Amino acid sequence: MTGAYLPGDCSVQLREVSTPQPGHGEVLLRMKASTICGSDIRAIYREHLGKGPEGYQNVIAGHEPCGLIVETGLGCRRFAKGDRVIVYHISGCGVCSDCRRGYAISCTSIKYRRAYGWQRDGGMADYLLAEEKDLIYLPDELSYADGAQVACGFGTAYEGLQKIGISGKDAVLVTGLGPVGLAVAALCRKLGATKIFGIDVVPERLELARELGLCDEVLPSDGSNVAEIKSMTGGEGVERAIDCSGNDAARATAIRATRKWGKIAFLGEGGKVEFQPSPDLIHDQKTIYGSWVTSLWLMEELVEQLLRWKLHPEDLITHRFTLDKAADAYALMASGKCGKVAVCFDEELV
Ligand SMILES: NC(=O)c1ccc[n+]([C@@H]2O[C@H](COP(=O)([O-])OP(=O)(O)OC[C@H]3O[C@@H](n4cnc5c(N)ncnc54)[C@H](O)[C@@H]3O)[C@@H](O)[C@H]2O)c1
Ligand SMILES: [Zn+2]
Ligand SMILES: [Zn+2]
Repeated sequence: MTGAYLPGDCSVQLREVSTPQPGHGEVLLRMKASTICGSDIRAIYREHLGKGPEGYQNVIAGHEPCGLIVETGLGCRRFAKGDRVIVYHISGCGVCSDCRRGYAISCTSIKYRRAYGWQRDGGMADYLLAEEKDLIYLPDELSYADGAQVACGFGTAYEGLQKIGISGKDAVLVTGLGPVGLAVAALCRKLGATKIFGIDVVPERLELARELGLCDEVLPSDGSNVAEIKSMTGGEGVERAIDCSGNDAARATAIRATRKWGKIAFLGEGGKVEFQPSPDLIHDQKTIYGSWVTSLWLMEELVEQLLRWKLHPEDLITHRFTLDKAADAYALMASGKCGKVAVCFDEELV
């Protein structure tokens, strides 16, 4: 089979490797959709920046895999050949405190924690070997391209919103309208947010957020964003803000454009932020939450909600590529002039 590797110099290498055989508790998936996350670009594609859990160990890339089980090893308890599944993209030890909460993302076992596409082979290949315990059932109503985004982007967005709570009482600001920011906006809409503002630096992304009806107002990022948001919210600011950019200035905007008693979630990774704790946070009684991916159970809950809401993550996909064109897929995602970018197989190549 073919697998795509990321040498870290903005290139993609396709290599022929043998198709793995599932061992005890493992399954072999025929890959159907494998989407690209901003973290792949930030920490692996441009250069190998990641350390620890973000360290790339020269494996097949892709941490948003979704596919069809074509073979099971001995000892599988729930899933079988023919099941459509999403892969929760970190395989944890299963027995540390975080794993027991369902958060294999923050598994504390250095020996056993392995993220797909980072420290063990991921979804940019014809087949993927996965552990049964990492699988989430994909219902027929959702496509594989829907499911792939649950594996990181939508799962991450859902978790962040769970932490700060979103309701019909809230105006929301999303800084950074990449796939994570767009997912946040789409979920906020379903959770009842009354007004959704989006900020980005890339015109194509602002346009997409508006075209898809995910944001009510989109603003190009500049020094006047806080004043603009306040003037559109009766002078007060938004009740909730979510940074999905990882950019220093955008994070500060998210904090300052939030009103008294408001809540802010940081999803965008890397970089720094500078703010003044007394005027920006303490005296306004605000809270900042950090949020890292999600848990197995919230991912299952999200799948259930997507059905109820008739929300299709695949609507964010603007470009689909075959595996042999993976280099074009990563280059496009790195340019930012797109929505979600997917490498697809078989019936998902529409
Ligand atoms: N917390 C988590 O668990 C988690 C999970 C997945 C991704 N991430 C991170 O979330 C971020 C977003 O992921 P993505 O897939 O959407 O990637 P992305 O890089 O495509 O999106 C980031 C967006 O922020 C925009 N941006 C940059 N500077 C800005 C500024 N000054 N103001 C407003 N917007 C600005 C970019 O133009 C881009 O559209 C990345 O940092 C990624 O690493 C975090
Ligand atoms: Zn990711
Ligand atoms: Zn663990």
